Amino acid sequence: MDPGRSPPVQPFPSVADDRAHGLQAVVDSGLMTARMSSQNTARNIGTGSADGVRRHFASDNYAGITPEAWAALAEANQDHEPAYGNDRWTQAAADRIRDLFETPCEVFFVFNGTAANSLALATCCQSYHSVLCHEVAHVEKDECGAPEFFSNGSKLLLLPGDLGKLTPAGIEEAVRRRTDLHYPKPKVVTVTEPTEVGTLYTPQELRAIGAMTKKHGLRFHMDGARFANAVAALGVAPREITWQAGVDVLSFGGTKNGIHVGETVVFFNLELAEEFAYRAKQAGQLCSKMRFMSAPWVGMLRDGVWLRHAAHANAMASLLHELIAPCPGVRVLFPRQVNSVFVDLPKPVIQALWDKGWLFYNFIGEGGCRLMCSWDTREEDVRAFAADLRECAGG
Ligand SMILES: Cc1ncc(COP(=O)(O)O)c(C=O)c1O
Repeated sequence: MDPGRSPPVQPFPSVADDRAHGLQAVVDSGLMTARMSSQNTARNIGTGSADGVRRHFASDNYAGITPEAWAALAEANQDHEPAYGNDRWTQAAADRIRDLFETPCEVFFVFNGTAANSLALATCCQSYHSVLCHEVAHVEKDECGAPEFFSNGSKLLLLPGDLGKLTPAGIEEAVRRRTDLHYPKPKVVTVTEPTEVGTLYTPQELRAIGAMTKKHGLRFHMDGARFANAVAALGVAPREITWQAGVDVLSFGGTKNGIHVGETVVFFNLELAEEFAYRAKQAGQLCSKMRFMSAPWVGMLRDGVWLRHAAHANAMASLLHELIAPCPGVRVLFPRQVNSVFVDLPKPVIQALWDKGWLFYNFIGEGGCRLMCSWDTREEDVRAFAADLRECAGG
């Protein structure tokens, strides 16, 4: 088996299976080319931290729940509350999100990012429409065709763009390329902020894309799985990179920011939100005990907690970049802007790091590694990883 490829995912592999596959079957965000160390018995303990717990760089989904989200969950776990979102927590969370964006938006809670993106896009399209997205977009690469499925066949049209970003010119070219009946009519543009390669659209770039969507009567969706990291890094108000830039609907990520499960779909274009509740219900995305999806948002959106956690993850990635960029054989692939560092490493170095028990993905091209920091990454984890990398690279 190609060491850079993971085997087909087995549902709930046994511990024995897990060992046999050397943890290759780890399922995370559809990044199916991950391969982890076969030394997996040591994978969660190590020399990294004073508490003996090693925090890995594979994904921000590896981290647990933030104390604030956890406390809110515990607080919500009292008495009886109405089901299906008719509870106080859901009302409070939606109100906090409206306050955050400083505009009257409609808010829906769904279980994951794939559902948020697919259902939001389906809302923007008829089946004969197309969605313009970057060629490495999560909706294209890592959602198993869900956007096409939930929109009854709207086609994703893939556009190139440096640093994982679409451009207004690229969008216009795709719209003008064909206008005949035989072409799936472009209807929506989706951008990822921050992008899949850890870069950021500036507010100006987003406004320019927004203007282009308006010029051509397109809708504008944003995949904000790591929206918190973007806002923390850009130092902007959330409104500046969403509705004020022309975004109609946002998939607002909670999981990677430290919530246990769930994202919100935030409609700034209120007409688009009409009947979305039915769409979500039909797709199996209406949580009956909704308060346990919404309460953590209340915990996270109190006193800027969400941004503090995101800023911390970004800062850890910045330190990681600083420590590993000068190591021999390390080539940084994209500018480090949020909580990820993308590097090209020699294959023996990747293997040696896996053998030391570090978990990370090498899914970008040949040897391209994504090192991801999360809200609970500690400086000592970063320093321990960087020291191991230096040693493995002979630096
Ligand atoms: C850019 C992006 N969008 C969306 C998602 C959400 O995907 P999931 O369905 O795994 O929650 C992810 C998760 O990795 C992501 O990286």
